[in-house]
Amino acid sequence: MLESNRPVVLTGDRPTGPLHLGHYVGSLKNRVSLQETHRQFVLIADSQALTDNASDPDKVRRNIVEVALDYLAVGLDPVQTTICLQSALPALPELTMLYLNFVTVARLERNPTIKAEIQLRGFGRDIPAGFLCYPVAQAADITAFKATVVPVGEDQAPMIEQTNEIVRRVNRQSGAQVLPEATALIPDAGRLPGVDGKAKMSKSLGNAISLSASPDQLRDAVRRMYTDPDHLKASDPGKTEGNVVFAYLDALAPDPVEVEDLKTRYRAGGLGDMVVKRRLEEILQALLAPIRERRRQLERDVGHILATIRQGTDIANEITMRTLAEVKSGLGVFSL
Ligand code: TRP
Repeated sequence: MLESNRPVVLTGDRPTGPLHLGHYVGSLKNRVSLQETHRQFVLIADSQALTDNASDPDKVRRNIVEVALDYLAVGLDPVQTTICLQSALPALPELTMLYLNFVTVARLERNPTIKAEIQLRGFGRDIPAGFLCYPVAQAADITAFKATVVPVGEDQAPMIEQTNEIVRRVNRQSGAQVLPEATALIPDAGRLPGVDGKAKMSKSLGNAISLSASPDQLRDAVRRMYTDPDHLKASDPGKTEGNVVFAYLDALAPDPVEVEDLKTRYRAGGLGDMVVKRRLEEILQALLAPIRERRRQLERDVGHILATIRQGTDIANEITMRTLAEVKSGLGVFSL
């Protein structure tokens, strides 16, 4: 398992809340198929979560098991996918320290993701240094596993770019290809909007459907979904662009022909919101029921979940420590 010729793929999630449908469409679904063809690592990024939650470590700690439960419930197989915990991998902060010498503060401040997040969090000039530097820590995550494929949402693409800049500088300084460059794998399904029609589904925006939602919560969320505000009567022609119900159907309906047919009828007039919503609800209930059931079974044995994370972390420690040794040697760090 440790050695394999498969391309290495790494992704991670900050454990700040339960995972939701946006995660499912944007990355979890992908990961379930990638584990068949790639050597896959999934990092529970609790250290990164602390970069903007340092005053609420409880939240981060609690959600580690929750996120692991979500992984296993959607079908990640711990034999094929190594699930590991960031804060238990000491090679990562060591690599981060070394990489920081190859990045300027100005470059970090220009990182579009960081820029947007600084705005969103209202840091102003008081940016925690740990937060500003998290792209470097993420470069450490990616390179420590020598991942060449990183499936992420569009908003994370600048992180991969910044990672590759660091990789090139470290390799140049080392005079050898110590680290491989990585490619972002951005799903063509695009990003799932929030139920309120906002561009992004996010727990903090309160517009998410969590993977563990109950049947009632699911029904409620679909009922509340933003459609076409001008589509007042079923007989009116309706817009399908910017219509959350159709965005979800596009991303999740098993039969694209059916979706096209619904769209045509909706645009022409004569198809009511309730009918389309009822169909979407059916699809979502069918998708989430087995995930919820599996999660319920797994929840009964938290000890087993912790053991799974521990085993994955042991494997990850071996690999990341080896990379750290190579980088230290490449960069000419004294070896005792
Ligand atoms: N920054 C990612 C996010 O917020 C999480 C993450 C941490 C990650 N380390 C990673 C993603 C390494 C890909 C690879 O979603």
